[in-house]
Amino acid sequence: MHEFNFKDRRLYCENVPVDRIVKEFKTPLYVYSYATFVGHFLKLQKAFKDIDPLICYSVKANSNLSVLKALVDKGAGLDIVSGGELFRALQVGCPPERIVYASVGKTEVEIEAAIKKGILFFNVESLPELENINRIAARLGKCTRVALRINPDVEPRTHHYITTGKLTNKFGIDFQTAGKIILESGRLSHVRIKGIHIHIGSQITIGAPFVEAIRKVIAFIRKLKAAGISIEYLNIGGGLGIIYKNERPQTAQQYADKVLPILKKSGLRIIMEPGRFIIGSAAILVTRVLYVKKTPLKKFVIVDAGMNDLIRPALYSAHHEIVPLTFSPGAKEKVDIVGPICESGDFLAKERVLPAMKEGDLLAVMCAGAYGFSMASNYNSRKRAAEVLVKNKAVKLIRRRENNDDLVRNEFIVET
Ligand code: LLP
Repeated sequence: MHEFNFKDRRLYCENVPVDRIVKEFKTPLYVYSYATFVGHFLKLQKAFKDIDPLICYSVKANSNLSVLKALVDKGAGLDIVSGGELFRALQVGCPPERIVYASVGKTEVEIEAAIKKGILFFNVESLPELENINRIAARLGKCTRVALRINPDVEPRTHHYITTGKLTNKFGIDFQTAGKIILESGRLSHVRIKGIHIHIGSQITIGAPFVEAIRKVIAFIRKLKAAGISIEYLNIGGGLGIIYKNERPQTAQQYADKVLPILKKSGLRIIMEPGRFIIGSAAILVTRVLYVKKTPLKKFVIVDAGMNDLIRPALYSAHHEIVPLTFSPGAKEKVDIVGPICESGDFLAKERVLPAMKEGDLLAVMCAGAYGFSMASNYNSRKRAAEVLVKNKAVKLIRRRENNDDLVRNEFIVET
């Protein structure tokens, strides 16, 4: 569900016509609906209220400070993967005890900063990383809480680029190795293994892989208990899918119905890390038609947003619905919607049937909130888009459009 709807043939974000927003802020433009992403967070909270989990929104999905602040204000924690995301989390006043930190490649500087701030958990992905955290914590005279990220080897049935819980993936630690690490962790006196973490992939539309992975780790935690080792927290990761085209993903309630009974019985404190579920459908990318180009074989609609603004179609062949801002009942045609970048992979849609378009028309790329702006780049020296947040009738700029100075800010011209 989202708050982008047509009223009198005009696309609205909440109670503001999108074309009016574009008049002020130009294109390409990311437009976010506050009610949509906060609503998704609250739905998840409600579905799991029996166990009151800590819902750590996954910053990588969309790291705009205003998005983070709105969610933190509602009680969310944050799931981070770098020192930069730690900085963002602290900027919006997220209490460190609501921050969890995953990543297979945490650096010394990043680990030190997170230990000093006293985050809730490092989600540790290898023995060398655990030893490193222990060494750094010892140097700082601290003892830090960690969760081991388990790779449960389950098939999430999603795109192979976003599958993370198979043994062929770089993530997590297999059960056998994890058991050994935990049993021998007494020698690491500056870390306490208090949690188990899993994250099996992204855009998962069915419940079965989650259930399978959770069952596997709970059985593992039981075995540890029998060996006298007590684990307090289970972090079940993110990964909930959304509707891009015709998927029929589980709702928050359906997800809860499947996993809640198992989680409840475990008696563990639960953490989850949804990203896409919260922010995915809460934004559109608005773009303007620059040219319509006919070739002997095809018709291309060339727009002012490219793969640098939204890379998902190029990278994963991801489908995003595209709609004109003004509904048109006229004739339809099959077109490729492409950006201005010098790559054939620079497309937003291929062979899409849309109303006939002309220069200057405005289009909305739907469900662009997750991994949209956060994966944007300056490729082709293109300035990254502006972002605005709509809440009911109010429209606020939450990131200004980049300018030429932004593009060269960190560069030096040296004599050669
Ligand atoms: N936790 C961990 C440890 C993760 O690696 C991720 C996402 C999440 C949570 C949040 O997953 P979500 O709830 O958003 O599915 N760029 C790709 C998605 C990459 C996901 C990376 N990890 C895309 O555009 O589809």
